[in-house]
Amino acid sequence: MTTSLTSLPTTFTLGGDLTVNRFGYGAMHLTGPGVWGPPGDPDNAIRLLRHAVHERGVNFIDTADSYGPGHNEEIIRRALHPYPEDLVIATKGGMLRTGPDDWAHAKDRAPYTVALGRPAYLRQQVELSLHRLGRDRIDLYQLHRIDPLVPLADQLGVLADLRRQGKIRHLGLSGQPGVTVEQLEQARRIVDIAAVQNLYNIADRSGEAALAHTERLGIAFIPWFPLGHGELVGPNGVLTRAAARHPFTGAQLGLAWLLRRSPNVLLIPGTTSIAHLDENLDASRVRLTDAQWAEAEALCTQAGPWCPAPAAAPARDEKEPA
Ligand SMILES: NC(=O)c1ccc[n+]([C@@H]2O[C@H](COP(=O)([O-])OP(=O)(O)OC[C@H]3O[C@@H](n4cnc5c(N)ncnc54)[C@H](OP(=O)(O)O)[C@@H]3O)[C@@H](O)[C@H]2O)c1
Repeated sequence: MTTSLTSLPTTFTLGGDLTVNRFGYGAMHLTGPGVWGPPGDPDNAIRLLRHAVHERGVNFIDTADSYGPGHNEEIIRRALHPYPEDLVIATKGGMLRTGPDDWAHAKDRAPYTVALGRPAYLRQQVELSLHRLGRDRIDLYQLHRIDPLVPLADQLGVLADLRRQGKIRHLGLSGQPGVTVEQLEQARRIVDIAAVQNLYNIADRSGEAALAHTERLGIAFIPWFPLGHGELVGPNGVLTRAAARHPFTGAQLGLAWLLRRSPNVLLIPGTTSIAHLDENLDASRVRLTDAQWAEAEALCTQAGPWCPAPAAAPARDEKEPA
C-alpha cells in the first residue's frame, strides 16, 4: 500500500483549544554561534520567519529563553509582531547555558547546559519571555528540563500558578535526556500537560515509549532534533542515503516519517535557510509503499541510533548532591 501524506491530518489541537499546523518551525538556530548572541544575519532571520508564517502557513514556532539567551525570542518579535491571530509561539524556561558552545558536537565533554527549576527563577523567566515576545500570555510554556534538585511539584506548581494568573495558556515538559512516561504521569498528577518535547528521529527512537504514551493521552509530542541536528541529512547522512533513489530529499523523508509516525507529532525542524525551509515544508511530496517505508527505517536503524554524544552523560551539576 502507498501512503500519501496528503491523507494524514495536517493539524493538531494543543490543549484542546489551540489548533496548529503540524508542520511548525524550530527557531533555535536563529542565534549566534553556539546558540549564543543575536543571529549573525538578522535580516535573513527576519525574512525567514516572515516567509514561514506569512507565505508558507507556519503557525507553530518553538523557541526558548536560553536560545541567545533572549535573542531568539527577540528576533521572533521583531519579525512577526503584531502577530497573526493564529500564531502559536511555544517557549521554554528552566535550563540555562553557561556560554557559547555547541554541546551537540562537544564529544569529549559533559553538556554545559544546566537545569534550573527553582520557582523564583522560573517566575522571573516567564515574565522575561512575556516581555521579549511582546505577549500577555504564553501559548505553550515548556519546562525545558526537569531539575533533579528541585521537587517537581515546586517547578510545576509555580508554572500552574502563573497559568491561573493568565500568563500561560498551556504547559509542556521538555527533556534532556527525554521525559519518561513516569515523569509525565508524575507531572500530570500536579497539573495538565499539553505537550512533551523529546529528542526523537528516524535514527534515534529511544523516545518511543513516551511518544506512544502521549499518543494514547492525545497530547502533543514535539520531537527535537528531527533531522539529528542536521547530521542525518549531511552528505553522508543516513537519510540522504535512504532517499538517494527517490524523487525527494533526505530531509523530506525524515520529516515525512515523523508526520506519518503518529498524528500527535508536531514538527519543529530548524534551519537558517529559506531554501531548506521550503524544501522541508514540501515533505508532503514523499510517497512510499509500506515496504519502502520499512526499507528506509531498516537502513536508518542499521546505521545505529543517532544521539548527540554528551546527552548521554549527566550534567556536572546533577552529580552533586542537593
Ligand atoms: N527541548 C530541547 O531540549 C531542545 C533541544 C534542541 C533543539 N530543540 C528545538 O528543536 C528544534 C529542532 O532542532 P535542531 O534545529 O537543532 O535540529 P534539526 O531540526 O534536527 O536540524 C537542524 C539542522 O539541519 C539543517 N537542515 C535543516 N533542513 C535541512 C535541509 N533541508 N537540508 C539540509 N540540512 C538541513 C540545518 O542547517 P541549515 O541552517 O543550513 O538549514 C540545521 O543545522 C530547534 O530549533 C529547537 O527549537 C529543543
